[in-house]
Amino acid sequence: MTPARRPVSAPGKAFLIGEYAVLEGVPALVTAVDVRAVAHDCDYPDRPAPSDLSLAAHAQVRDHLSSRTGPGPQALSEHRDHLSSRTGPRTLGEVPSVDTGPFSRGDRKLGLGSSAAVAAAVVGFHLQEAGHDLASADTRALALALARAAHHQAQGGGSGGDVAAAVLGGSLRFTRGSDPVLLAHPAWLHVGFVDAGAPAHTAAFVRRVQAAATADPAAHARAIDLLTRASHDFLAGYALADPGPGMAAIRRAVDHHNLGLAALQALSGAPILTPPITAITDLARALGLAAKPTGAGGGDLVVVFAASQAELDRLGVRLAREHNLHLLNHIAVAAPGLRSEPRPPTHSRLGGFFKLKVPERRAQLAASTGLPLADFSALDPGSLSLESADNLIENVIGTLQIPLAVATNFRINGVDLLVPMAIEEASVVAAASNAARMVRAGGGFVARADPPWMIAQVQLCAPQPARLDAATAAATILAARTELLALADATHPRLVARGGGARELEVRVLAPDMLVVHAIVDCQDAMGANLLNTIAEALAPRLHALSGWHPGLRILSNLADRRCAHVSCRVPPAALAAPGWPGDEVAAGIASASRFAELDPYRAATHNKGVMNGVDAVVLATGNDWRAIEAGAHAHAARSGAYRPLATWSVAADGHLEGSISLPAAVGTVGGATKVQPSARLALQILGPHARTMLGQVMAAVGLASNLAALRALATEGIQRGHMGLHARSVAIGAGALGPEIEILVTRLIESGEVKHEHAVTLLRHLRQ
Ligand code: MEV
Repeated sequence: MTPARRPVSAPGKAFLIGEYAVLEGVPALVTAVDVRAVAHDCDYPDRPAPSDLSLAAHAQVRDHLSSRTGPGPQALSEHRDHLSSRTGPRTLGEVPSVDTGPFSRGDRKLGLGSSAAVAAAVVGFHLQEAGHDLASADTRALALALARAAHHQAQGGGSGGDVAAAVLGGSLRFTRGSDPVLLAHPAWLHVGFVDAGAPAHTAAFVRRVQAAATADPAAHARAIDLLTRASHDFLAGYALADPGPGMAAIRRAVDHHNLGLAALQALSGAPILTPPITAITDLARALGLAAKPTGAGGGDLVVVFAASQAELDRLGVRLAREHNLHLLNHIAVAAPGLRSEPRPPTHSRLGGFFKLKVPERRAQLAASTGLPLADFSALDPGSLSLESADNLIENVIGTLQIPLAVATNFRINGVDLLVPMAIEEASVVAAASNAARMVRAGGGFVARADPPWMIAQVQLCAPQPARLDAATAAATILAARTELLALADATHPRLVARGGGARELEVRVLAPDMLVVHAIVDCQDAMGANLLNTIAEALAPRLHALSGWHPGLRILSNLADRRCAHVSCRVPPAALAAPGWPGDEVAAGIASASRFAELDPYRAATHNKGVMNGVDAVVLATGNDWRAIEAGAHAHAARSGAYRPLATWSVAADGHLEGSISLPAAVGTVGGATKVQPSARLALQILGPHARTMLGQVMAAVGLASNLAALRALATEGIQRGHMGLHARSVAIGAGALGPEIEILVTRLIESGEVKHEHAVTLLRHLRQ
C-alpha cells in the first residue's frame, strides 16, 4: 500500500470591489476567503469520479514534470529547470479527490469561486507530491501558472483573479493582463457576507450589460465611471491604517459602486439590485456600515464592511429580525493560499460502522479523522481519575460512566462531521445517524448561529420611598448605557482582547417596584456563565448609584435566546420511504405529527423530549452544561406563552419534507468541564476544526435529526419495532453471543416476543448445540 499523500487545500475568493469595472481594465480587489477546497487521497466506496477540472490540473502538472519542451503556458518555462533539479516522483499518483463541501449550503453552491480553488488544490497537491514546498514563492508562482492553464483549459475565459486568490491567498489588487499585487488587509476592517438568496446567472447578466453598452454607450460610460471611481476610492481606503478615514473612503466607494450598479440595471434591465440586496445595503448604510453585492449581483452574496465585529453582529441581528436575511457564519477574508493540511476532511458516511467491535470502530475513526489511535484511550473507563473528579465537585465517592458513541452521516453546511454522543438510551445514536443519512440525500443540514451573545441579569427593587419611579429609573439607567457597557468590558479585558465584550443594555420593567437590567455580552467561544455573573455583580453598585433602586439577584439568564442556533433541512420523499410506506405518505405523516405537537402541549413535551435526546447527548459528550441547555430549550419552547415544539416539519410544494429548529445554544469549547474531562477534549477533536464555531449548530442538527427519526417511526410502524431490534441486540451481546451468533440470536429473540436475558442465554445454548 502506498502511504497516503498529504491533503492540500486552497481557498475560495470574493470580490471586495471592481467585479464589473475589471472587465474595462480598472483594478479590482479580490480576497481569498477561508472556505476551502481540499484535495486528498480517499478510498471511499462513494468517491465521485474526478471532474474535468481536476483531470486538467493533474495533466498540467504531469506534462510539466515529464516534459521540458512540451506545450504549456509560457510562464512555465522559467520554472522547468528549477523543477527538474528537485527530488520527488517524476510520475504522479492518481488524481486526488477534491472536497468542496464548505462551498455549499444545502443544495445550493455559494458563489465563492470553488472551481478556481479546485484547480489550485489539485495542482498544489501534485506539486507537493513532487517534493515542492507549497510555502515557497517559487512553488506558488509555478502553481499559479499551472492552475491558470488548467482552469482556462477546463472552463475557458475568466478574469484569473479567482485562481490568483486560490493559489496566493491574501487580498490581491488585480488588473486584467497584469500580475496581481498582494495587499495587506487592514486590521481594522471587518468583513461579513449576507446570503441574498439564489444567485442570478452571471454570464447572462454580463451579456445583457454588454448588449446594453452597445445600444447606449454614453449611459454605459457614465455607469462605468461610477464603478471606476468606486474601485479607486476603495483601494485608497483599504490602504489606510486609520479606521476613521479608511471606513469613510470605503463607504463612499460602496455608495458609488451601488449607484453604478443601479445605472447598469436601469440600462440593461438585468435585476442586479434585487429587493433583498437593497434591504441589506440600505440597512448597512443606515447603521454607518457599507454593503454591496460581491460578484454580478442578482442574489447570492452581499459583502458588508464594518470597523468592528460588534457592528457587523448588530447588523446581522437586525437583518434577521427585520428582513429574515442572514449573515453567514464567520468567513475569514485574506485567508492563506495553498496550504498543506494535517488531516483529510472527515467523511461521515461510515457504512457498517455499527457492526464493528469497539477497537475496530476506534481504528476507523482514527483513520477518518486523522487523530492518533492512541488518543482514543481518553475514552477508556476510568480516564476521568478519581482525583480529577474530586477536584470537580464536592463529596466525591466515584465517577459515573455512560456510553460514548459517534453518530455517522452528518453533513452540516457541506461539511461532514462525526458527532460524539453520550447517552444511556438505546437507539438514539442509530436513529440520529439514520435520519442524518436521509437529510444528506437533500444536501445535508443548513445551519447558522446568532452571535454568541448572552444575557447577564441584575434585578433591581424599588426603595421605600422611591426617589425615581420605574419608568424614570429605567430611562436614567439607559442614559448611562455607554458608561455601563464600558464598566462591563473593564471586568473582562481578556474577553475584549479576544473580540468579545458587552454589546447592548436593556432595562425591562417587570412590575412598578421591580426592574431588571440586561447586559448583553459577546462571550466568544466560552459558555459564558462565569463571565456573565462577574459582569452582573460588577454593574450592580453603579446601577444602584444611578437609580437609587436596590440590586437583588445578579446572575446570567439561561434563556439564551440571543444566542440561538438555527438549523433547517429538506428531505426528498424517496429518502423517507420505508417498506410498505411510500415516501410521500411518510412525509405527510411527519408533517401531521408536527402539527399535533404544535396544537397540544402534552404531545409537544414528548416531541421535545425526542429532540433533547440528541441535543443532550452532544452537550454531555462535549463536557457542556446540559441543565443550562435544557432550561434554555424549554423556556424557548414556551416563549409564545404556550409550550410549543422546538422542531417543526411541513411538506413543501415540491413534495420535499422541510424541517427546522431554533435552539438557545449556550455551549462553549473552552473552559469548564471541556478542560477537565479527557473524553470531552477528545470528543471536540473528533468533531474537528469546526467544533469551535459550530458546536451549537451541531447540537441543534442532532436534535432535528433525532426528532425526524422519532416522527418517522411514530408516523409509520410505531416506535417499538426499531427499539426492540436494538434492545434485542444488546440483550444478545449481554448473553454472550459472538460474531455471526449475534444476528441469529437477535432474530430468534424478536420472533419469540420475549427479549429477556434468561431467554437469550437459553436460546444461545440451543444455538451452540
Ligand atoms: C423516546 O426517547 C423519544 C420519543 O418519545 C420522542 C417522540 O415521541 O417524538 C420517541
